[in-house]
Amino acid sequence: MDAFIIKGGRPLHGTVRVHGSKNASLPLMAAALLTDSPVTLHDVPDLSDIRNMTRLLGTLGCETSLKDAEPSRPLTIHATDPSQTAAPYEIVKTMRAGICVLGPLLAKRGKARVSMPGGCAIGDRPVDLHLRGLRALGAEITLDAGDIVAVAPGKDQKLIGGHVFLGGPSGSTVLGTANVLCAAVLAKGQTVIESAACEPEIADLADLLTQMGAQIQGAGSPRLIIDGVDQLSGADHRVIPDRIEAGTYVCAAAITHSTITLENFPTDALGAALDRLNAVGVEVTPISTDGQPIDRHRGSVTVKTDDTLKPIQVFTQPHPGFPTDLQAQLMSLLCLADGNSTITEKIFPDRFLHVAELLRMGANLTRNGPSVVITGAPKLIGAPVMASDLRASAGLVLAALAAKGTTTINRVYHLDRGYERMELTLQSLGADIQRVKEENL
Ligand code: EPZ
Repeated sequence: MDAFIIKGGRPLHGTVRVHGSKNASLPLMAAALLTDSPVTLHDVPDLSDIRNMTRLLGTLGCETSLKDAEPSRPLTIHATDPSQTAAPYEIVKTMRAGICVLGPLLAKRGKARVSMPGGCAIGDRPVDLHLRGLRALGAEITLDAGDIVAVAPGKDQKLIGGHVFLGGPSGSTVLGTANVLCAAVLAKGQTVIESAACEPEIADLADLLTQMGAQIQGAGSPRLIIDGVDQLSGADHRVIPDRIEAGTYVCAAAITHSTITLENFPTDALGAALDRLNAVGVEVTPISTDGQPIDRHRGSVTVKTDDTLKPIQVFTQPHPGFPTDLQAQLMSLLCLADGNSTITEKIFPDRFLHVAELLRMGANLTRNGPSVVITGAPKLIGAPVMASDLRASAGLVLAALAAKGTTTINRVYHLDRGYERMELTLQSLGADIQRVKEENL
């Protein structure tokens, strides 16, 4: 396994281009199962989760080709063998997003067997809302040996449009909305999804499906109206920038009090995060490049930070609220603010694995259920720490960039699931970060 060794205290400078979004790419890739024609996706990031999804689609009769040498790295997925309908545990257990193939398989092939994803480091992560939504479209669903077994109704094995409410105790469900949306586009008649997830990744999925011939109204809003069509065509689509990677690099600049430029930056998708960061003293300014008008979806921004970080109160919420996927990174930043901050996690109340590791670096944190009080300290101190989940690991890298001395972060394979070659990006900005083999430490 790999580890990072980070010597903190170096200011960052330069320009970084944000990659395509992981969490948009995974359901987009699964949507290729909905058509017999090839679907080409540009800007899919080079990450282990994406490679696992490619492997999963391979077992489901898809041929995939990646033109790695081209700048947008086009990935073409062609579902050529519709006889395969089982997503095996060996792959789904490596990546919860494997559940994304359930809706497309059921809609296009009339049946699916998908291993039930287990919990993970950030919580239990049930899929009851996914199943509720698919049942509302007529699917018969049972559990067998840890697998979800779903069959579309009737002799023709076609789903039937229905009215679905997807709100749960923590709001809507992102991948649940993706599954039901993909199922509804080929169902007979009209489907209405109430309390649909409004995340930009769902709007991007709706964009691809519309390009393939689907009839969808309300993309990006909590009410989706879908008129089923008989078949979908292929498409050529560019994935949206990764708002979480973008927000992470804003926090990297902020925690080191550096001025950097970020390209392919999704300003509008980060409204709540930029608002909270602004209250801390971080200024993210969209800029025009080559005389072009400012682009708030894929434009460039500069990041600058005040000398003193101010404390804030934050609640994570479904989009357009502050994203849970930036909570750990923000916490690292607030460890160095001048006063007491509070973060309350409303999506995954146990997503605090980074707290114990930040304590090892001298942070002053008190957890009380789903909330953490962060008493700002003048400095963090380098220490050996353990990466536990993807975003917790990103939070630790940020803390290490600002810490006095050396931090060793073990198990960085968690980071490799969501950040493309993070150490190279940070090195290009002037950080002192090295990837080493844990056994060589
Ligand atoms: C997506 O997970 C993201 N993953 C997560 O990103 C992200 O943290 C999460 O949305 C919330 O924004 C991908 O897109 C691949 P949910 P998802 O269903 O869709 C509850 C990262 O770091 N719920 O929106 O699985 C659930 O327990 C990852 O990149 C139910 O109760 O999350 C949670 O409290 C981690 N029943 C809330 O809803 C269900 O059937 C939101 O979960 C489904 C979810």
